[in-house]
Amino acid sequence: MKTVLVTGGSRGIGKSISTTLAKSHLVVVGYVNSRDKAEEVVNEIAESGGSANSVEINISSKESVDRAFATIEDAYGSVDILINNAGITKDNILPRMKEEEWLDVIQTNLTGSFYTSQRAIKQMMKNKWGRIIFISSVVGISGNQGQSNYAASKAGLIGLAKSISKELGSRNITSNVIAPGYIETDMTSFLDDENKENIIEQLSIKRIGKPEDISNVVAFLCNDESEYITGQVIPVDGGLTT
Ligand code: NAI
Repeated sequence: MKTVLVTGGSRGIGKSISTTLAKSHLVVVGYVNSRDKAEEVVNEIAESGGSANSVEINISSKESVDRAFATIEDAYGSVDILINNAGITKDNILPRMKEEEWLDVIQTNLTGSFYTSQRAIKQMMKNKWGRIIFISSVVGISGNQGQSNYAASKAGLIGLAKSISKELGSRNITSNVIAPGYIETDMTSFLDDENKENIIEQLSIKRIGKPEDISNVVAFLCNDESEYITGQVIPVDGGLTT
């Protein structure tokens, strides 16, 4: 059974990815400040017959990433599938954006995924097999008002994923990006009913996305059936970007 690490796997889209992949993989739920929530997800998976564990991993710290990978490798040998899901927002319009807001978002969303991916491929290269999936965002493709830091970090993930696909395709390591549109989670909980109606008007499919809309595509990209897909960006956005 392949071992999957889901960063930020204890809530929202990450939780849905953890529970969906646990149907056919051993899942390690990465958490940073939410050990209890991660344990709840692990228990939920165990109750439905799957295998899971949790690990503390702060992706913005190289030391924390190294520690978490060492723990997983000691227990299971390798991380075969890496889901770079963890991310943050610190929104502000560009004239008001503080350097700290810019640096924090780039450090977590982009540099954090560099740390995890670089660490994961060590073992994937030895195994001559691996899957890396990045959860970017439609705003990494289109940009967004008040989100220059977040959009730049999410666009950066696309460049990172495509480069990995070219460097490591010959070793059976694929690297793909999912670009979610609006998905109902803590990250979008600030949207009121009027905001939601305005968003739905722009969509072809007339509802806000659910975490499962993303985790089902992640599951497909982890399958052997998708082994010929690499370096791609798949928007999952109800038609927002068409
Ligand atoms: P969320 O805020 O519910 O979950 C984010 C997760 O990342 C949390 O578990 C959090 O603890 C973790 N995290 C934050 N900083 C971390 C760090 N330094 N190290 C490790 N973990 C850290 O958000 P949601 O909506 O579930 O988002 C998941 C991913 O999907 C994020 O990358 C987000 O940018 C992306 N996304 C979300 C969209 C949405 O509409 N909800 C749309 C497009 C992309």
